[in-house]
Amino acid sequence: MARKIVAGNWKMNKTLPEAKSLVQEVLKLSFPPDVELVFGVPFPYLTIVNELIASSVRVDVAAQNCHQEAAGAYTGEVSAPMLQSLGSRYVILGHSERRAYFNESDSLVKEKINIALDNHLEVIYCCGESLQTRELGEHVQFVTAQLDASLSHLSETEIQKIIIAYEPIWAIGTGKTATPDQAQEMHAEIRKWLQAQYGLVSAAQISILYGGSCKPANAREILDQEDVDGGLIGGASLVAADFIAIARAFAK
Ligand code: PGA
Repeated sequence: MARKIVAGNWKMNKTLPEAKSLVQEVLKLSFPPDVELVFGVPFPYLTIVNELIASSVRVDVAAQNCHQEAAGAYTGEVSAPMLQSLGSRYVILGHSERRAYFNESDSLVKEKINIALDNHLEVIYCCGESLQTRELGEHVQFVTAQLDASLSHLSETEIQKIIIAYEPIWAIGTGKTATPDQAQEMHAEIRKWLQAQYGLVSAAQISILYGGSCKPANAREILDQEDVDGGLIGGASLVAADFIAIARAFAK
């Protein structure tokens, strides 16, 4: 069985005092015992958020990016060994905003995945198609090509350290969510891809999250889908009550 995960992606939001109070507010609220929470926070907050969650079970932190090299003259960048030394369990890689605004290609994302795994980080790997690709009916082909390019070289042990987040680009931050059927269709295709590469048992254990305008109002119908194991939540993760309401939407 895949783990149920609700991961917040704060992006470039919150000052330090705001970040602390958001985490503290979230931790006061209860969420289902079979759900794990992740705070995807800006680099400077990793240590402090890690300290705040230290006594909480089923709560972890994620960085939102890392460099593809372990160290070197890359001013302003942050490496996977640094993230590991800060106690970050996860790193989000391949987010469509990184691909669009920082020109990250599938092959660069692959390099980043490799260095992250080498440094014992688990990866929340993002994939997803544009509106144009969906309108052309090529969304499944597009996403499976992304998986081929960035994940297919991983061993069966390595793939278990990957969480896949399907995030249709047209649904991110737009208020347009994929319908439950659209989400299920793609998640089932991703599972099928995993099955073909790694077998039935491994494929069933890998969490596939949905991301893109997921809110308390639409979370339940999406999370109810058979192959949806959780969410990668942007905007709604910035409000404690909304983030937890999404985690609670898992309680059937
Ligand atoms: P959103 O962002 O929930 O604000 O659409 C999701 C994401 O980019 O991970």
